[in-house]
Amino acid sequence: MGSDIVLSAEHLVKRFGGIIATQDVTLHLARGARHALIGPNGAGKTTLINLLTGVLEPSEGRIVLQGEDITQLPPHARVQRGMVRTFQINQLFQGMTPLETLAMVVSQQRGIGARWWQRLGREDGVAERCQELLERFHLADVMNQPTSHLAYGKRRLLEIAIALACEPRVLLLDEPVAGVPPGEREELLQTVAALPADVSVLLIEHDMDLVFEFAKRITVLVNGALLTEGTPDEIANDPQVKAVYLGHGEEPSGDGPPRAASAPSGGSVAASAASVGGEING
Ligand SMILES: Nc1ncnc2c1ncn2[C@@H]1O[C@H](COP(=O)(O)OP(=O)(O)OP(=O)(O)O)[C@@H](O)[C@H]1O
Ligand SMILES: [Mg+2]
Repeated sequence: MGSDIVLSAEHLVKRFGGIIATQDVTLHLARGARHALIGPNGAGKTTLINLLTGVLEPSEGRIVLQGEDITQLPPHARVQRGMVRTFQINQLFQGMTPLETLAMVVSQQRGIGARWWQRLGREDGVAERCQELLERFHLADVMNQPTSHLAYGKRRLLEIAIALACEPRVLLLDEPVAGVPPGEREELLQTVAALPADVSVLLIEHDMDLVFEFAKRITVLVNGALLTEGTPDEIANDPQVKAVYLGHGEEPSGDGPPRAASAPSGGSVAASAASVGGEING
């Protein structure tokens, strides 16, 4: 692991009444990290992201971003300090084009604010930065189409482009390929893999192909608690992780697909088991 830490969650606890969604979670994100957070449904992944971004307030523990305790800061103040999660554009910006959307965000970021439309292409390198983002995210060919007309994979690309336009130090990606049809996934996978090296990325994802392709480090959450953390190899060969995903403990799993029927908790865990099984066994 890299020597310097950009973001730390320290002994985070989140209770919802009687439910403990986050149980004493400590997690360190290294500078330039390619770190994935995995775990079965209900493990507490989204809750952890909500704690990190300030959507939820922790019951206990603290969050440190680049040496500063940000536990009490509201979400926008965390964004200003360089921690950005992907935006959900499903509601927002439907009538705007990718170019307009990015020009707005880049201008906002550079303090030009609402005057962006007067100045686009004229100064401050806004147009250049937009062009760069449009190309990086494979959006150049659709940059003048209304967002509502874009294919779903392109919208997910735009979401990440918007986040990157905020010039993050830490980028939190919550299931970037969820719902993306197979034909559009490869472009998204490649783009995520090619994010700038100096941006530290924490990825939450059920898709194990993406996780194992992307991550240099993986943290596994189960029932709100940290089960283990390690390299992809360590995680793929960890008997506890296999037990969680495959539901049959340390029994060698052989080369065949995992027996989903033996997983204790129904469809979604079984589905995860199928894809993890592919990685673990492959
Ligand atoms: N606002 C809330 N009120 C009460 N319980 C909640 C709330 N948010 C989450 N929980 C509970 O906390 C636990 C963790 O949920 P969370 O959504 O963080 O899991 P997850 O790992 O993101 O799951 P998934 O993989 O399905 O997205 C679950 O038991 C959930 O029911
Ligand atoms: Mg979730």
